[in-house]
Parts: sequence; C-alpha cells; structure tokens
Amino acid sequence: TIEGLEASGELDAIQAAFVEFGAVQCGFCTPGVIMSAKALLNKYPQPTEEQINEGMAGVLCRCTGHIKVKEAIRNDFRIRQERLKRALGDV
Ligand code: FES
Repeated sequence: TIEGLEASGELDAIQAAFVEFGAVQCGFCTPGVIMSAKALLNKYPQPTEEQINEGMAGVLCRCTGHIKVKEAIRNDFRIRQERLKRALGDV
C-alpha cells in the first residue's frame, strides 16, 4: 500500500516527485496512481514514454491530463540519484 512506501520518515522518491511536480490529485486516485508508478519504476527505473503510457494505462482517473504525473515519473530516477549522492557524502 501507499503507506508502505515511506522509509525512515522519508517519502519514497516517487512520492517526493509527485509532491515536487504537483502531480497529486484527489485522495481516491492518488494512492493508486503512485503505486502504479512505483510498479512501473520497479520494472523500468528509467522508463521510456511508451513504457510510462503502458504502465499507467490502468489508472482510472480521467480528471487530469496526467502531464504532471508523467513528469514526476520521469524525475524519480534523478531524485534517487540525488539521494544516493547525499548518502555517500558526494553533495
Ligand atoms: Fe482523483 Fe480524478 S482526481 S479520480
């Protein structure tokens, strides 16, 4: 579940990306959208546009164009890299 993504008091990178890009919609769809994105990113850490479209095809929210959601998904990898550098003391 969405509650299981947070680790050590820090949002998962995909959750942080959704916040950063304003991709959060309503309380009904957002958990499912984020979990779908997480499943996609587990399979493809740097997904192509086609993989994003295919991976998110099951999301039922039609209230938005999903532009911000896609932007958040594209930036998950960058956030992970920044966190890794920070953890290694590189930044
Ligand atoms: Fe949640 Fe559309 S914004 S269902």
